[in-house]
Amino acid sequence: MNGFITLGEFIVQRQADFPYAKGELSRLLSAIRLAAKVMNSQISKAGLVDDILGSAGNENIQGEEQKKLDVYANRLFINALKARGEVCGIASEEEEQSIIFENEAGVNGKYIVLIDPIDGSSNIEVNVSIGTVFAIYRRLSPIGTPAVLSDFLQAGRKQVAAGYVIFGSSTMLVFTSGNGVNGFTYDPGIGVFYLSHPNMQVPNDGKIYSVNEGNHAYFSPEVKAYIDYCKAIDIESNRPYTGRYIGSMIADLHRNFLKGGIYMYPASSKAPNGKLRLLYECNPMAFLMEQAGGKASDGRQTILDIVPEEIHERTPFYAGSSDMVDKLEEVLAT
Ligand code: AHG
Ligand code: MN
Ligand code: MN
Repeated sequence: MNGFITLGEFIVQRQADFPYAKGELSRLLSAIRLAAKVMNSQISKAGLVDDILGSAGNENIQGEEQKKLDVYANRLFINALKARGEVCGIASEEEEQSIIFENEAGVNGKYIVLIDPIDGSSNIEVNVSIGTVFAIYRRLSPIGTPAVLSDFLQAGRKQVAAGYVIFGSSTMLVFTSGNGVNGFTYDPGIGVFYLSHPNMQVPNDGKIYSVNEGNHAYFSPEVKAYIDYCKAIDIESNRPYTGRYIGSMIADLHRNFLKGGIYMYPASSKAPNGKLRLLYECNPMAFLMEQAGGKASDGRQTILDIVPEEIHERTPFYAGSSDMVDKLEEVLAT
């Protein structure tokens, strides 16, 4: 443990990073911290209580089956963020439209939050790591008015903070506010997140590739060529790489943050824009990746430079060690 610095203390210490924010961003992050603790408590009871596992019996806007935990986490994060009054609007994977807070605290809120409340929700059934991922922006519309769609459709480069919570062997909250990436591990016995991974750095190169190869038949020749490259023998460049695919983007990327590697969710003939959503999955992870010295790309351009057109838009996504993402882009361009 790193000198017993708690997440709360860390946020206070880093207040100076946000001279314009006057504690607002701290309150917002503390709402996320609280929701993460509640989630941790609920998730650790999965299998014991009825209302955690299984389908909620409906589909979200993307035609995906909603799990009970998707619905629960969505409400929890929305309510926790609304209660702090710093947020003027939220967009969530589980909500067709963005949620605009029209009460007085809401119209005066300066921040927009985009969130995937549960990432990897199919893994909850089998006791495998899942997560929550969020992106935070300053609004563009005038304070004192309800948020508008363009507040949500900002390029990822404009994020002021982003983070994820991973519910794994232990629960961690990892976040950036544009000054590096720091990871905090939760001690459930006393209900505190401690700084355990200060200044996280993604190794420039790695030995692990991560992709759902069940989709291989639907990938382009260029994507197949890169996967062949990963599997080819070349002692000098540590190939063949090891394959690892958890099926929770957050968990697969968390491993890349610590060990290096490349995570891929390519476009395919079945899913021409890939599966992952730009605004609340790829952008926050891309911001964290860059802040930790890694890279995130759609195969051609940096994820953070894409200007979004709609809240639930998808993009091919490649993220991890910078040398590996560079090589991927080189192979895709041939
Ligand atoms: P979500 O649970 O938020 O819908 O996201 C699931 C995503 C991502 O976490 C994961 O990497 C990917 O879907 C797995 O998809 P496949 O099963 O198609 O590999
Ligand atoms: Mn997801
Ligand atoms: Mn989700």
